[in-house]
Amino acid sequence: MNLVNAFLELDNLLHKYSSYWQFIPFQHHDYPWSNPALTRYVDELKASDFNKIDTQLERQKMCFSDFFPDMFAWGEKHQLAMSAQTEAASPFWLKTNIAGRKWQQIQAFSQSFPFKNRSIVEWCAGKGHLGRILAFHHQTSIDSIEWQAELCQQGQTQADKLQLPQKFIHADVLTTQAELLAGKQHVVAMHACGDLHTKMLAESVKHQVENIDLIPCCYHLTEAETYQSLSSYAQQSQLALNKDQIKMAVQSQLTGGNRAAVLRQKEVTWRLAYQALRADLMQDLHYVPIPSVNKSWFSGEFKDFACWCLQQHNLTAPGQVDWQQYLSLGEIRAASIQKMELVRHVFRRPLEMWLILDRALYLQEQGYQVVLEEFCDYQITPRNIVIRANIPKRHGNVCAAC
Ligand SMILES: C[S@@+](CC[C@H](N)C(=O)[O-])C[C@H]1O[C@@H](n2cnc3c(N)ncnc32)[C@H](O)[C@@H]1O
Repeated sequence: MNLVNAFLELDNLLHKYSSYWQFIPFQHHDYPWSNPALTRYVDELKASDFNKIDTQLERQKMCFSDFFPDMFAWGEKHQLAMSAQTEAASPFWLKTNIAGRKWQQIQAFSQSFPFKNRSIVEWCAGKGHLGRILAFHHQTSIDSIEWQAELCQQGQTQADKLQLPQKFIHADVLTTQAELLAGKQHVVAMHACGDLHTKMLAESVKHQVENIDLIPCCYHLTEAETYQSLSSYAQQSQLALNKDQIKMAVQSQLTGGNRAAVLRQKEVTWRLAYQALRADLMQDLHYVPIPSVNKSWFSGEFKDFACWCLQQHNLTAPGQVDWQQYLSLGEIRAASIQKMELVRHVFRRPLEMWLILDRALYLQEQGYQVVLEEFCDYQITPRNIVIRANIPKRHGNVCAAC
């Protein structure tokens, strides 16, 4: 993949289609695009198909490629290769305390890990599951950096039990004065969020760490309210991304099951039903946020939830309220919002690719060779892309190929 061309094409497409994704559905009473054919199409979709369309990239493509052909063509042209698997699978007894999907991700990552006979730093390690597996396979020393002391302790106990060369370093990577990557050769970060992984990239560049393997996550978890581009190309982009928009890149729901999906839908419906009541009382159609609440509210009565919301907005319920009528209005609004989300989510993976390419281009601009790969299947985790970067070897004036 030519990273610069891929980024510039994608940047243009995301800008061209911004009215289809740069909006907050809750704030709209009607579709924010002027595209009658698309409106007719989404209005005819069956509610029972929404979840499949939203979670399966192939389904999404079947539904929407006629409306956004160049966007889907970009995806095909720049389809990432799956990482080659070069290592053996790990023995089952190493799996202790690692949940199913996490184990599959770590397995896939470690089987494709480009080991260079070097010590490794594991950035924001949690309990250091990944580091432990890498230490087992390569018998190399691993420094696992983690902020939560308890996780460090649990991880260290496990590593010591297995006599693995893994050492935990208890540190806050954002505030520590220690030069965590000074003199280090290889850093890995799996699912390190926003500022945590951008700090790792900056430190790696500063200390010229030769190999970086980054699986980014939660790009919106940053101190800054608006997106701070890393590469010079993203700095020139016309997309001015805020946290809500960036968050969409990681909002794919694969887990949680049907029960969680039903509960989520009920919550959305009740919140919208309350908004309809408030709009009538105040003669004001503007969406006003309601704080997040314990999910147990949604096993009770809508009336109780609505009265609590009224209190939050310093309002009192009128004597006579047809609660069922507002619930029905909430259901209609919820269905319309789901349809807006289906269209918006066409741009979810492209937006994630835009964010990943920004990181890749930043490293390229700093002298790294960079490749992007899918290290595991999307159905195991939607955060399945790894940025692999290394500083090319220099051989004096002699070309490395000679
Ligand atoms: C999403 S978890 C990923 C853990 C592990 N890499 C994995 O893939 O399972 C992010 C980890 O970063 C740690 N973390 C958060 N803020 C941190 C900081 N400022 N310094 C170091 N670690 C931090 C959290 O405690 C958490 O264990």
